[in-house]
Amino acid sequence: MSAGQRRIFSGIQPTGRKHLGNYIGAIRQYVEGQEASDETAGEVAIYCIVDLHAVTVAYDPAELRERVHDTTAILIAAGLDPERCVLFRQGDVREHTELCWLLGGVTAWGDLNRMHQWKTKREQIEQQTGAFVSAGLFNYPILQAADVLAYRATEVPVGDDQRQHIELMREIARRFNERFGETLVVPEHRIPGVGARIMDLQDPTSKMSTTAGGESGRVYVLEEPDGIRKKFRSAVTDSGREVRRAGPGGGKEGIENLIEILCVVRGIGPEQVEAEFEGSGYGDFKAAVGDAVAEYLAPVRERYAALRADPAELERTLAAGAEKAAALAAPVLADVRDAMGVAAPR
Ligand code: AMP
Ligand code: TRP
Repeated sequence: MSAGQRRIFSGIQPTGRKHLGNYIGAIRQYVEGQEASDETAGEVAIYCIVDLHAVTVAYDPAELRERVHDTTAILIAAGLDPERCVLFRQGDVREHTELCWLLGGVTAWGDLNRMHQWKTKREQIEQQTGAFVSAGLFNYPILQAADVLAYRATEVPVGDDQRQHIELMREIARRFNERFGETLVVPEHRIPGVGARIMDLQDPTSKMSTTAGGESGRVYVLEEPDGIRKKFRSAVTDSGREVRRAGPGGGKEGIENLIEILCVVRGIGPEQVEAEFEGSGYGDFKAAVGDAVAEYLAPVRERYAALRADPAELERTLAAGAEKAAALAAPVLADVRDAMGVAAPR
């Protein structure tokens, strides 16, 4: 890899319950990143299903394997082409766990303790009976830093909720380079201008989330069109009647969220949405957004069904991806070991 060359990396949790927020905030950008990478210039887009992150909270081992297959099939159905990008399972590439440990030496305990995701997850778990908060949950952002830094990635497409984790990985890379010499690349986040924070349909002041909020507030990528339309028809709005943005504090978060979703799905701007639905009332607008999203996701759901039916092929795809990933990460780890003076010299 030569200086200034673009390299994209992102990770995604294994689950079949990927929602519209994941799709619009992240998965859509993965496909764009793949399309934008110039293979002939040695550019590459790397996407990782993070099973090692999944073990930081309560889970079932057999189920985890299934959920990795679900996510793999969703990503391919959404347009990732394993021939053109590197698509793999984190646990298959040992470099991630090794680098995670090594980066622990240049990560501040206090920084980990400030992470919003750590604080909210920890609180969520502590409210459950038999709560067990793992050390892994605390160290989660170090593994995430290792994911990206092991490839000297330059860009990380994510939704807005990952901003703080990316800031931390930049800090970790900078501290490593200061302490041990220029070895790692300090990556930039790529958070989309529109759709980086899709809100819960029932509580538009909270982000759409896999764990928080109720079923009626989130729309799944794999959901049947009728279910999708129903959820949009009952989306919470406000007591007004104009399909128009009001800005922060304007009390129109529900409508703004729907406008944003329609913008992404149709590839148009908010002014166009406002003009089109001028005087139409909320009922018609919500129905139109529901129709548009149902239509947008239908082909993904159809392709998914065919891909998910062949787990052996998904395993072959992941194995081939892991081989390509390991070949990229191994030389970086060799440089890291050398810089840090651990293990036998090369
Ligand atoms: P996860 O399923 O937690 O691995 O998240 C996968 C990606 O989806 C990450 O890049 C998140 O930032 C992004 N994401 C999660 N929730 C939302 C949301 N409500 N709106 C936009 N992006 C999101
Ligand atoms: N923590 C991310 C999330 O919850 C997933 C993730 C793991 C990730 N490793 C990553 C994202 C590396 C970007 C880069 O969404």
